Amino acid sequence: KQLVAIRFIEQFRLLRKKEKGRFLLESKFEFAKSLVKQAGQYILDHMEEDLQIETKSSPTDLVTRLDKEVQDFLVDQILSLYPQDSICAEEGCLRASVKEGAVWVIDPIDGTNNFVAQQEDFAIMLAYFENGQGQFALIYDVVKGDCYHGGGAFPVCLNESPLPTFKRKPLGDFLIAANAGMLEKNEWGLADLGRAALGVRVYGSAAISFAKILSGCLLTYVTYLQPWDYAAASILGESLGYKVVTLSGQALDFKTRQAVMMVPVEMREEIQSYLYERKEN
Ligand code: IPD
Ligand code: CA
Ligand code: CA
Repeated sequence: KQLVAIRFIEQFRLLRKKEKGRFLLESKFEFAKSLVKQAGQYILDHMEEDLQIETKSSPTDLVTRLDKEVQDFLVDQILSLYPQDSICAEEGCLRASVKEGAVWVIDPIDGTNNFVAQQEDFAIMLAYFENGQGQFALIYDVVKGDCYHGGGAFPVCLNESPLPTFKRKPLGDFLIAANAGMLEKNEWGLADLGRAALGVRVYGSAAISFAKILSGCLLTYVTYLQPWDYAAASILGESLGYKVVTLSGQALDFKTRQAVMMVPVEMREEIQSYLYERKEN
């Protein structure tokens, strides 16, 4: 009898621990949703001011005062509520590994060149991992007010509406998105894939391209990206039947810039049959 009682208490404790974990994750997710909305409002309130545009690695790699301010705001808010958590963020040198502990991956403005030149088609991206497992993510198209959120144990939604999982069609009925430079040189046979599809679109923002896949408007997006560019999409896509992988179909390293694609798992092989290493014309 004593043994049965001990087992019961152990099971009860385990259940309580799981419930507590679930409650903490839910409140973290709610906090993240409110955070990206606040950050988006900050951008809208200040985007007409002097953006103090600077270049980084090349004349077309831009950063503005708002990229830095939004990142600082997100990092400060996260660490003030969750001081034990770590951060991997684009601007500056915060580079925590998603593999260890509770880690937030931040791209404060994805599509900075669109932001500077067009004041639209840019987004805030946030992804949250625990020991390498994606728990939830957000892509917030600030100007449209469209928030893609969920992943892990949470349904993937566009604002309040759950998004459907991938539905197969012939390749020729789908549009794809791609990196303009790779297309021009037919790197990896990307132009060949484009010719087999209905057409190719170049949006100038990884976030906007991924969001269009999540909402069923595109089949795939093929490009070179850093971890903060693909972290959110990798979590959101998983629940809807997609995966973000390297062009040879391997898992991403979440450390370096890699040639990546987001593909529906069901059509990965067909898409990959067009992608072969061909760096020359
Ligand atoms: C860039 C955009 C762009 C992609 C680049 C990214 P950023 O992000 O997503 O579409 O082609 O590789 O670096 O710099 O605007 O955050
Ligand atoms: Ca950015
Ligand atoms: Ca980016």
